[in-house]
Amino acid sequence: MISGLEDVVAAETILSDVDGQSGKLVIRGHFLDDLVCSATYEDVLQVLWDGFFADLSDSGRLTRQLGLARQEVFAHLEAVDRRLLEHPNIDVVRALVARMDDGQDISAALRLAAAPAVFTPGILRLQRGLAPIAPDASLGQAADMLRMLHNKVPTMEQRSALDRYLMTVSDHGLNASTFTARVVASTRAGLTSVVLAAMSALKGPLHGGAPGPVLDMLDDIGNAERAKEWLQSALDRGERLMGFGHRVYRVRDPRADALKTSLQALVNAGQVDERRMRLAQIVEKTALELLARKKPDRALQTNVEFNTALLLEALGFPREAFTSVFAAGRVGGWIAHAREQLRAGRLIRPQSRYVGPQPATPA
Ligand code: ACO
Repeated sequence: MISGLEDVVAAETILSDVDGQSGKLVIRGHFLDDLVCSATYEDVLQVLWDGFFADLSDSGRLTRQLGLARQEVFAHLEAVDRRLLEHPNIDVVRALVARMDDGQDISAALRLAAAPAVFTPGILRLQRGLAPIAPDASLGQAADMLRMLHNKVPTMEQRSALDRYLMTVSDHGLNASTFTARVVASTRAGLTSVVLAAMSALKGPLHGGAPGPVLDMLDDIGNAERAKEWLQSALDRGERLMGFGHRVYRVRDPRADALKTSLQALVNAGQVDERRMRLAQIVEKTALELLARKKPDRALQTNVEFNTALLLEALGFPREAFTSVFAAGRVGGWIAHAREQLRAGRLIRPQSRYVGPQPATPA
């Protein structure tokens, strides 16, 4: 038996290819590096969903339809009560998604793709005692999400940074939440069931909960002079440095590079805390040097979580909402995989090997 199903091929997909040896991510025939320079999140949704819904619009109309879907799901925020608000953001998002119709058509898909983008800022505002801001259907998903968080239209750099993030995390092979989505879809349950199950897999600290610890590390280091000593001590204690290394990517994590460009644009526009960025740059450089010295035979590079943490913090999302923002991007991939799995048509039902006690009496 293969522990963690590592290297087991459990599905064929036309949706994404994670090439760890060359450090490339292909989303349905497009390199991620190219998509983030020329597309929007809605374009990527169109690419991922193409052929899986009879009545899917072109990406221009899809932007409008997704905006209208945001307005439709906004009403669910009225169901949030005080007790629900005591839970982590992703748990409240999940509770609200659970109220939605368990359909299979494009309308259900659009409402689900809109839901985390609307619920995440709405819940954050309710938790701060503020009223949620209603969606603006004329905006793209990224711009509107930031507007619903801060109650002001974001700058071009901020909008583009979040858009890039949502595209970057939209799909990534058969990760744990996507595999979960495909298992549920294979039972022919509706898309709401698929998204709820996938969100539940995503929230675990080994999957979507990773970027928070990167900020905890930066907070703990505090200032650049302490970086080398802090990082070396952590390595001497046998600890992992958060935001470095990857199971599949051996030369570079293309998602980390895509986000770094957006971070630089925010720096150039003076829209990030410069002290934080200077500290992060020194920590990254020092960590890479120490890791190369410690593991010369292993290319331990900066992974997506390091830049995700900095980017989402710069955009004003608190770390407790990072998993929900991740879900706002990945939901597009979950839905595409669910539809692809449904087309494959076969129930996913592997075997287990019984290693428990045998009955005392013969059968
Ligand atoms: N810091 C210190 N040492 C490391 C790190 C790191 N970040 N990453 C790997 N190593 C070391 C390991 O200790 C191991 O050493 P050993 O052979 O002496 O035991 C060696 O490099 C290989 O480690 P593996 O566990 O085989 O690396 P793998 O590729 O399986 O693990 C993982 C990948 C889990 C991401 C790892 O690099 C890690 O723990 N990173 C820190 C946590 C992190 O950033 N997680 C987010 C990943 S991105 C994502 O999941 C979306």
